[in-house]
This record gives sequence, structure tokens and C-alpha cells, in this order.
Amino acid sequence: MQDLKFDFNNLFASNVGAAHGVSESEINRFSGAVQEAHRHLRSLLDNPENRVNLGLEWAVLPFQEKKHILEVQKLGEEIAYKYESVLCLGIGGSYLGLKAAQEALCAPYFNEFPDARDGRTRIYFEGNNLDPTPMQVLLKNLNPKKTFVVVISKSGETTETKAVFEVVEGWLRKGAGKNYGRQILAITDPVSGSLRKRVNEEQKKDRLSFRSLSLSKGVGGRFSEFNMGLLHLAIVGVNIEEVLAGAREMSGRCHSADIYKNPAYLYALLHFIAYRKKNKPIAVLMPFTELLKSTADWYCQLLAESLGKKYERRIKVSASGGEEWLNHTVRPINVGRTPVASRGTTDLHSIQQNNAEGENNKVITMIRVERFSQDMRLASSGGVLSGKSFSELLNLAQEATEWALVRAERPNCTIVMPEVSPWTWGSLIYFFEMATAFEGELLNINAFDQPGVEGYKNYMYYKLRKPGISRAVVDDIKNHPLIKDRKFVL
Ligand code: PA5
Repeated sequence: MQDLKFDFNNLFASNVGAAHGVSESEINRFSGAVQEAHRHLRSLLDNPENRVNLGLEWAVLPFQEKKHILEVQKLGEEIAYKYESVLCLGIGGSYLGLKAAQEALCAPYFNEFPDARDGRTRIYFEGNNLDPTPMQVLLKNLNPKKTFVVVISKSGETTETKAVFEVVEGWLRKGAGKNYGRQILAITDPVSGSLRKRVNEEQKKDRLSFRSLSLSKGVGGRFSEFNMGLLHLAIVGVNIEEVLAGAREMSGRCHSADIYKNPAYLYALLHFIAYRKKNKPIAVLMPFTELLKSTADWYCQLLAESLGKKYERRIKVSASGGEEWLNHTVRPINVGRTPVASRGTTDLHSIQQNNAEGENNKVITMIRVERFSQDMRLASSGGVLSGKSFSELLNLAQEATEWALVRAERPNCTIVMPEVSPWTWGSLIYFFEMATAFEGELLNINAFDQPGVEGYKNYMYYKLRKPGISRAVVDDIKNHPLIKDRKFVL
């Protein structure tokens, strides 16, 4: 009854023409590749060792133990009513899922109005940028005695999070007194990294200081909302069980080998064919609701870091079936669709112009919400808008966008959510994760690493003289300096 619906009609040639749309016979041509991708993905998911070693453990997070959820919920409740503010520090996968959940599942203006948050603590997300401006304002205005800090970093080494945490810790130490560590909780790797080391040291001195939650092995940041995001959900009062139940339902739908029964597979395949055969390298995600704005940002990270890859994957299988993934470094392939986060109806007055008349090089995925928990109706005053509700107008705008795109032969599809609830949101997140994993199989790449983000980090570490940088990295930077011709600097 609450199930998401997926309308793929406008990705087909019958609606947007053969140059831009996919035909059923084209789909049939990929049936061998689809069966192989399905076989391989399922074999990975059914093998706990491969799941952990290769980064696919996210797929079983919806099935985690209830006992753990109850513990997290208890902790979240304690924090929610004891403190005025919570600072969540983290970046990338340690931030975007939480922010997306907050916007989707909590009332808008959560921090501004106590009623909107049922008297719970305010939540602020920081440590997701090195820009000093917002943090300064925040620390000037928050009360350190009434602030709780949740620092999230799987590696425990990320520059942005580390730097901001250092400042926040100093601020807490100064303002909250010697037991300030009791106002800090770290979510990090169970064993490795400097954040875990710090937790262990502080815990030896005081068990109530630097409490921590351990992240599951084999879950990358961008796939970890159902792991590192749980405490945040508990603090803001979202029903975690409902979120996971929605994800479980989607997991069930994503088991089928039949692409016409498996929405994640069909979504991935249609986008894959559009990318490879119809020259559509851009993916626009356009939810028609403010509630899913940050979910679109989360999706951008998921798609960009998972599928934007330089090398094809080479699989080595051991006698016991354990896999190791290597890169075919001889010939770069440089694949990956470019994600764009957009929103209806705001962007109908900006990006839509390009969607409809610019280069026909993108696929637009819209998200339509059937029921809004809070709606408004215009007065019956006789005009064209007379007596209409906002949700009617919003969904009419979505239908109109669909029509305009089809008319201009622009491939698009629509995900229909009956409502934005913990259940449907959990389902949506799992759908995108599975679709991304399946597209990774079709592309034959490693969808669970992100080596491309190391380049900028290495350069920063080199400039900051961080100990332990490899000779190869140092030589690479020295041999390839940035070239600044003054002629081009105006
Ligand atoms: O998806 C990923 O793994 C990354 O985007 C990480 O989440 C991001 O780099 C932050 O890393 P960490 O949690 O180790 O601080």
C-alpha cells in the first residue's frame, strides 16, 4: 500500500523517439549482461566474506538486530531531551545521509520552533566544509554547557572533520569544564584511525567520556545511512524500525532476476543504455518536494563516487570463492554519469530551460509525492487557482514537466512516493543504493571505492608536510606542478 511506484514510460523510444529512448528489443540485447550482473551481484551479497571485504555489507543493514536499534534509540532519547543543541560533525557519507533524513523526515524549520521538534534538541551539521564562517557564528551563539557533539568519521582521519572537531573540542573544554568529554560521542571504525585511538584513550580515563558507536565493517560512507545515521534518527525522533522496514521491503523487490519486476535493475539498465547508446551522460534528479532536496544531494554523492571511475575492474577469485577486485590499469575507461541535484517547482524557472531545449544529453528522474501531511488550499475566489490545494498544483506541475519533456523528446522517468514517511524514505534510499550497485556491475567497475578523491588530499598533505606520504606521491606532485602562465591570469 505504501510501496513506491516507478514509471519508466518516458525512457522508452515509443514516447521520446528512437534517438533518445530505449526500445524493448535494445533491452533484450542486454539480457545476457543483465543475467550475468544479477548472478554476480547476488553471489556477492550471499557471501558474508565478500560482502565485508568488497564493501557490500550495506545491503544487509535493514536486517540488523533489533537489540542494537533499541540501544541506539535509548541513547538518542537521552541526548534529545538533555541538551539544547547537538552538533553533528562529518563530511561526505558521514554527513549527507543524515542531512537528507533530517529534511525528509523532520518538520521544516526544525531548529527555529520547539513545537516543530516536539521539544527535542536543535541539530546543526558542521565539519562538512573548511569555510570558517558558519562555525564561528555558531560557536558564538551556542551554549557549550548545553551542547552535545557527535563527531562522525569512519576513517577518523578526514581533514575537514578533524579540523572542526579540534576547534569544537577546545570550545567545549573552555566552556563546559573538565568533564566536557561527556558531551562528546564519536561514531567511527571499531579498531583503526586516530579518532578511535582518541576514544580509547579518553575511555580509559573516564568511561562516561568520549562514548562511541562502532561502524559496521564493509559499509562505505555513502552507503551507510542505515548504520551511522541511526543515532541521528533517534535524536530527532524518527521511527528507525519504520525506515528499515521500508528498506527491507525494497530489498525484497530488488531480488528478482526479471528486470520488469525489479525496479532497481530496470532503472539502472535504462540509464546504462541511455548513457552508452543514446549519449546521455548527465543524470538530473528532480524531486517535486522541498523535503527531498538533500536526498538529491545525497544521491549526487552516491552516483558520482560510486560510478565515476577511471579503470575497469579485474576480478580475482580464490578457491573458496573469495573475490579480490583489481583495476585494469593498462587502459583507462573513465566512465560515469554526472549527477545534478535539482528540484521542482523551483528549478522549473531555471534548469528546466536547459532540460527542455539545451543539449539532449541528460535523463531526468522526477520524484512525485502523492500525499502531503500538511497541505493548504486556496480560497474559492473564481480564478484559475480557485479552490486548488498546493499539492494538486505541485503534482500538476510535475505532470506538466513530464509532458513538456516528452514533447521535446527528453528522456525522463518518475518515482512516485505515496507520501514522504520513514517507511517510503527508507525504501527510496535502498532503491538508489541497489540501482547504483547494479549499474556498477553493468559497467564492470568497483562501485565501492573512491580513489579519485585521493588526488586533492595527497596534494594538501604534501603542502602541509604530513609525515608518511609515499615517495611516489611526492614525486608525482613535484613532477607535475600547477602551471600558471601570467598571460591567463587577468
Ligand atoms: O563514501 C565515502 O566513503 C566517503 O564519501 C566518505 O564518507 C567521506 O570521505 C568521509 O570519510 P570519513 O567518514 O572517513 O571521514
